[in-house]
Amino acid sequence: MARPSATTLESECTAEERTLLMETLKNSAFSGAHLEIGTAAGGTLKEMMGQYAPDARPDFFVIDPLTYYPDQENIITRNLISAGIDPNLVTFWKGVTQDFIDPARASGQMFDFVFIDGDHRHYYVTVDLQWADCVTKGGVIALHDHGAAFPGVGWAIDTFLAHNPDFKIEARAGSLTILRRIAVTKRPAVTAADLRHARRVHLMFRWKRSLKKRLGLR
Ligand SMILES: C[S@@+](CC[C@H](N)C(=O)[O-])C[C@H]1O[C@@H](n2cnc3c(N)ncnc32)[C@H](O)[C@@H]1O
Repeated sequence: MARPSATTLESECTAEERTLLMETLKNSAFSGAHLEIGTAAGGTLKEMMGQYAPDARPDFFVIDPLTYYPDQENIITRNLISAGIDPNLVTFWKGVTQDFIDPARASGQMFDFVFIDGDHRHYYVTVDLQWADCVTKGGVIALHDHGAAFPGVGWAIDTFLAHNPDFKIEARAGSLTILRRIAVTKRPAVTAADLRHARRVHLMFRWKRSLKKRLGLR
């Protein structure tokens, strides 16, 4: 069965998470590009874009495999149009971070704001955190589903922050965490060794979970 957002066209974030997200955008007065990783029906996307006057709206990018539900692409298009937003203003990168990060780095693409809300498992959140290299000083990385339901998100954030003092937790609401870039001293933010480590932890976590299930321990 398709997720509710396929028909409601609403954000998958709670009201308090959206309030923090929108206040962060408003208070930051960003003019550089924004990236959302994982958009579902585009419910949060349309609200974020709606934060800006049409003549002052930064460029928006989305990365998503667009297989969340049937016809996802048309659902997003319809949703943006219903909010008075031209879908052509969004650059859709159909796929995952690994398909786009190298060309983006090579072209010098930078973002003031990155919202990570795609695959919440340890390895994939770490993969998405590679976009930190493209975040401007003063820019933000927001991560959704940081909580007990998705242990991969918290693990990836903690591991990332332990290696990246350039980023600090600025705020949290519900399962939304806002990281602010306060300096630019280290690149890459996520090394090949970090990715290998995340892959090992991810596989170990999956193995432990399936073992527990087989043993009837939840
Ligand atoms: C939880 S929903 C996103 C909700 C949306 N951000 C919102 O606030 O309404 C997850 C989305 O991530 C996409 N997705 C899944 N794996 C992904 C990945 N590795 N990279 C990018 N997007 C991914 C799915 O297709 C889906 O659209």
